[in-house]
Amino acid sequence: MAERAVAGAAFEALLRHSRTLLIVVDHRLRIRSAGPVAAELAGRPADALPGMSLIAALGSVPLDAVAREALASAEPAVGETELGHRASRSFSVEGLRLPDGGVVLSLSEISALRRAERVRRDFMANISHELRTPLTSIKLLAETVADGAVDDGASARDFAVQIEREVDHLAQLVDELLDLARIESGEVSLTIAPLRPSDVIARLAERIGPMADRQGMTVRVLPPPAEPDHPMVAGDAERLGQALLNLAHNAVKYSHRGGEVRLAWSATEAAVRFEVADDGIGIPEAHRSRIFERFYKVDRSRARDAAAEPERAGAGLGLAIVRHIAEGHGGSVGVRSTHGSGSTFWVDVPRAPHP
Ligand SMILES: Nc1ncnc2c1ncn2[C@@H]1O[C@H](COP(=O)(O)OP(=O)(O)OP(=O)(O)O)[C@@H](O)[C@H]1O
Ligand SMILES: [Mg+2]
Repeated sequence: MAERAVAGAAFEALLRHSRTLLIVVDHRLRIRSAGPVAAELAGRPADALPGMSLIAALGSVPLDAVAREALASAEPAVGETELGHRASRSFSVEGLRLPDGGVVLSLSEISALRRAERVRRDFMANISHELRTPLTSIKLLAETVADGAVDDGASARDFAVQIEREVDHLAQLVDELLDLARIESGEVSLTIAPLRPSDVIARLAERIGPMADRQGMTVRVLPPPAEPDHPMVAGDAERLGQALLNLAHNAVKYSHRGGEVRLAWSATEAAVRFEVADDGIGIPEAHRSRIFERFYKVDRSRARDAAAEPERAGAGLGLAIVRHIAEGHGGSVGVRSTHGSGSTFWVDVPRAPHP
């Protein structure tokens, strides 16, 4: 008898507190006991569940099917189901028949695993698309030449130039991908040192200059704020420079000829903010929260054709890299933008302690 009591108490503890969710149903698939998590998934108070049919309480056909299968067999039945608000959580389910004819269902959450699989699938689909596009162009160009359709030297050279551009684009894509993979896997360790914000901005202006020139754009460095305590940032000069250069590239790329890119910094108690502003095409509100995701582009047709204007081709990886670098510094990124009249991106980086 004592042993039964212990078993009962153990089951009660599992039912209430285990991360594995337990639901006991009778031979007609009515709930006999279920813990608070099951009640939460059912969206009902815990004391409302006993007596309800499993399907009515949780609304899951696959869960019901596992219970039925378990009832009919001495072997455990297994399956998978989505539960919760808008079926947003995934569970693996095991059903075991009890000696009295009921079934105990144990559910383990596998949402994180499913989410990771989805991300990986999207990633593969995106990357295949991004690699396919320039490859298709190269193949077409090469075929045209091979077919003898290009008879004079000048046209042949023109084709070669186009092929070279596509290859450059592919190479850049592969570099960005490798970079992102290294940063995401934590393989890149930052070499943090105190940096003067005005040096960071001056270096950025120097590096973006040639590209801005080609687009007929000017780069303006806004005067630094009067900061009596001369703040320094705790940054990796190389990586922080790369992040800001990505922002400046975008500012040039998504602007009109003759426009202006403004570079600025300012400081708060804890951080230094670097800003890159343009009066370009801007970003519609609906897209603003997603542009820092890898491969996300507002409009594929907007970044112009790689062959026609190589400077405007992009994979949608630049901002993902910026975000990772900022977060690697313990900082953050942000944007404000008016669709049609420009964007301001910023990176906040923690300040270096004063010596
Ligand atoms: N300054 C900007 N003005 C307007 N739109 C922008 C600006 N910066 C980024 N975007 C939008 O956000 C998207 C994502 O930018 P991101 O830098 O990640 O990718 P990309 O520039 O398309 O390609 P990549 O940087 O990998 O060469 C861009 O495709 C563009 O639609
Ligand atoms: Mg970019």
